[in-house]
Amino acid sequence: MALNLLLDTTKKLSFCSSCLASGDLPKVVVGRGNPRARLMIIGEAPGAHEDEKGEPFVGRSGILLNKLLESVGINPEKDAYISNVIKCRPPNNRRPTKKEIDLSMPWLSQQINLVDPLVITLMGATAVKTLLGNNEPISNLRGKWQSWEGRLVMPLFHPSYLLRNPSKAEGTPFSLMREDLLDISNRLKGIRK
Ligand code: URA
Repeated sequence: MALNLLLDTTKKLSFCSSCLASGDLPKVVVGRGNPRARLMIIGEAPGAHEDEKGEPFVGRSGILLNKLLESVGINPEKDAYISNVIKCRPPNNRRPTKKEIDLSMPWLSQQINLVDPLVITLMGATAVKTLLGNNEPISNLRGKWQSWEGRLVMPLFHPSYLLRNPSKAEGTPFSLMREDLLDISNRLKGIRK
């Protein structure tokens, strides 16, 4: 109930007008998947496809993310809730500013608490920096479980990074991502909500 309220409210309110430049306001892209899932996946910010559709990860990165999840037995619609740190598309797809991240954090924090996931995966540097305050490269952080406010957290490569590094050979970002997702899938099998 509370979650539906948040979703309704965020869809109706253009709260991003407080942090983005004036002009055409982008859509508020809240989340997709199962808001009761035990796994919450957090990326950076919506891009053009996401802004058009009003859902996160529906462009090339999202298609790859779905495939990767399915390859380890995670159904993206039933077993995961997918969202972003920033709920509106930054102009020209630029990196979100610190001010935008700071303004988004209360929404993200509320969203995490309402979904109440057992495991959070942070995809890419913005999500990792926002929740863990860590600036290290993802290659140093991936594969190591961490925690945020008592919840299990796994940093992951962003799917757009995999699209730019498509080799699937052993030791490449692609194969490491699969290892990490398998680890997450196994962890989820071992814990109940
Ligand atoms: N990249 C992101 O970080 N989020 C999206 O929703 C799409 C692409």
